[in-house]
Amino acid sequence: MDRYRDNPAALRGLVRDTEVHRDVYIDPEVFDLEMRHLFAETWVYVGHASQLPEPGDYISATVGYQPLLVVRHSDGSIHVLYNRCPHKGTRITTEQCGNTGKFFRCPYHAWSFRTNGKLLSIPLKKGYENTGLDDAEAAAGLRPVANLHVYRDFIFVKLNEGGQSFEEFFGESLSSIDNMIDRSPEGKLVVAGAPLRYLHGCNWKMLVENQTDTCHPMVAHESSAGTAVSVWEREQAEGAKPPMAVEVYSPFMSSYEFFEGMGIRVWPNGHGHTGVATSIHADYSAVPGYMEQMAASYGEGEARRILDENRHNTVYFPNVMVKGPIQTLRVFIPLAADKTLVESWTFRLVGAPDMLFERTLMYNRLINAPTSIVGHDDLEMYERAQEGLRADANPWVNLQRLYQPGERHDVTEVINGTSERQMRNQFHAWASFMAASMERQAAGA
Ligand code: FES
Ligand SMILES: [Fe+2]
Repeated sequence: MDRYRDNPAALRGLVRDTEVHRDVYIDPEVFDLEMRHLFAETWVYVGHASQLPEPGDYISATVGYQPLLVVRHSDGSIHVLYNRCPHKGTRITTEQCGNTGKFFRCPYHAWSFRTNGKLLSIPLKKGYENTGLDDAEAAAGLRPVANLHVYRDFIFVKLNEGGQSFEEFFGESLSSIDNMIDRSPEGKLVVAGAPLRYLHGCNWKMLVENQTDTCHPMVAHESSAGTAVSVWEREQAEGAKPPMAVEVYSPFMSSYEFFEGMGIRVWPNGHGHTGVATSIHADYSAVPGYMEQMAASYGEGEARRILDENRHNTVYFPNVMVKGPIQTLRVFIPLAADKTLVESWTFRLVGAPDMLFERTLMYNRLINAPTSIVGHDDLEMYERAQEGLRADANPWVNLQRLYQPGERHDVTEVINGTSERQMRNQFHAWASFMAASMERQAAGA
């Protein structure tokens, strides 16, 4: 039943000031429209330049339903191409990553393409003489995406023509990516190996919402992090210094007051972050030698400013979360209305002591891995919600906490850290980007 297709007004009606309709999580038609419109109208992260150190290196990415190749060309530039042969549509590669050498070669009839997408050669070319192939779209090779922007090695694309520029879309929110990069004394990050991949039986937006949900850790994680904290308190030798693992998970048991005080900053277009004044990352032990390296690179004051910024989770709308102080990035990849693949990536701070990278890996294992002590608590809650939303009791999900009538979504503001305003911000952006793309398509643009 097409209730929302060709009907941007009905789609907008799913998002109220303080509530969203359950269809945004469970309806396959809404999911289909998200894939076609939301992920085409917004700037979506597809990878990091350090994954492509050499010419010919490539990675695969999927944006909405679109299969893409992100590749390093011989002149060092990065190109993002549709992973679809212009001859008969065959996927050029099915690998997650690799090196293709100087060209891609389609496995079906061996048309080949330079790493900037341009057609290089066709076997038995004389069969195309005087056929007008040069004017056919196929002769242009692998089609590039409409918009590509590489921001300090973070690669983003936007599939739709028109709409917001990269700068307009992200604005000040880029300061969280800046802070993560600036934590390297050389101002450089490298992706460290493959991500942890964790399949979730729930809608992808539940995960995005959870990134700024500060009223759940002390409840949902009590049985895991809470138990671990009480074991540590019981077993520790008098005055012992907590080991790295305890430093990582114990802040999950912080009080409501702590999370209220830490603050949330909302930005336009659905972006926002928790952890303005302080965060769960603020009290980690100092790593020997790191501050000295940072001061040598940036000067004492600037180094202090960079390291005192302890942002917790920054949501890059629609589906990415960055943690600057712990150098992780998570991507919530929608597979179906009730299926999401979560990739948790780690970065090494180039030139920084190894202990920082050790902490990054430990955090990712303890909090984000399928074997984590914390992550499965969240998964249990998402899956219960996905099931519970089928109940006909009430079709609306409540996002009212600390709502202020008349609050705006096109401004930057710092607010109480337990507010659900960032969730409202995301849904406001969701409705407006979806509707913008649908309206543009209806107008034939
Ligand atoms: S489909 Fe690719 S060369 Fe024929
Ligand atoms: Fe959680």
